[in-house]
Amino acid sequence: MIEKNIGWQRAIVLSIIMWTMIISGCGGAKQTLITDGSMSAIRLPAPRTEGGMPLMKALKERKSGRNFSPTPLPDQVLSNLLWAAFGINRPESGRRTAPSALNWQETDVYVFTEQGAYIYEAKDHILQPVASGDYRAETGSIIQPFVKDAPVNLVFVVDAGRTSMMGKIALSTAERDMLSDTAVGFISQNVYLYCASEGLSTVVRGLIDREAVKARLKLRPEQRIILAQSVGYPADQVEKTAIDLQQIPDGNYPGEARYNDLVYRVAVAIKNHRIDQVDIVDIGSDDFREEAAAAVQNVVSLQRVDVDAVSGATPASQALLKAVEDALTKAAGSK
Ligand SMILES: Cc1cc2nc3c(=O)[nH]c(=O)nc-3n(C[C@H](O)[C@H](O)[C@H](O)COP(=O)(O)O)c2cc1C
Repeated sequence: MIEKNIGWQRAIVLSIIMWTMIISGCGGAKQTLITDGSMSAIRLPAPRTEGGMPLMKALKERKSGRNFSPTPLPDQVLSNLLWAAFGINRPESGRRTAPSALNWQETDVYVFTEQGAYIYEAKDHILQPVASGDYRAETGSIIQPFVKDAPVNLVFVVDAGRTSMMGKIALSTAERDMLSDTAVGFISQNVYLYCASEGLSTVVRGLIDREAVKARLKLRPEQRIILAQSVGYPADQVEKTAIDLQQIPDGNYPGEARYNDLVYRVAVAIKNHRIDQVDIVDIGSDDFREEAAAAVQNVVSLQRVDVDAVSGATPASQALLKAVEDALTKAAGSK
């Protein structure tokens, strides 16, 4: 009886091994490795590590871009992008395209697409599913709506559990964090250079809905979200947020935006199809009043609100611009 059971167990194990071999032997760009309900792991095609733009030209072209076409990245481009970011470039030692202190390799690159959130496993060059569904918007903030349009949003997460002593020297938490934060910077710059070479648009971002991403990825307490980076083909249109003032009749229009549980309210006065005045009605915190006044002054002198184009603006002033945009959008719509 026992022997009979062992025979059955062997048969089951053998058939699992056989199916695994059949599946992993399949050709094609993508193949199923595991199935997690609705999602499967994605085996990326081998990265193309030859060619590309000459380095000095790529450095000349490197820039941040915030307009994205929804066109998905081809598998080969995604493969090259992730390899450039933090792939293994010396298989004999497992070392990567970006440096890390003491070769800790403490950064994980998560990939958010329309289909779901994945973790990039450099060793096998695959994407393992973490969550099924479109959570791209969570990797940004409401004041940067372009994030949800970018076909790929990378999120760089460091794991303090992989950091250690420096030889015999014990490092403080602040020192370890500094080393890990710096390591992420190298990965991001690799992405910038690959995108420059490939004609892709990209921007690295500190503005992330960290609580949402932390919950979505089920991060452990020792894991920290450092930066996110949007990647995609550049959109054709130049400004998505430019509003035609000719469409807006004279009047006083209220607008509001929320950021980090704070509400920002403005009243925008339109006179002769010009932004005559912007009054700050409500501001998240008095600490922001000075920079907010400067931001609205810009709106009046430039006669336009291009929230997505204001790269250096702080979250508070961007939220305020978003409130002005809200007022003008409603005003144009109410005509
Ligand atoms: C650490 C860091 C955080 C950043 N965070 C954001 C961000 O949250 N949103 C954004 O639109 N740009 C962000 N940027 C991009 C900068 O605004 C941009 O690099 C800067 O304006 C210079 O433009 P350039 O990259 O085209 O040279 C960030 C850049 C760095 C280095």
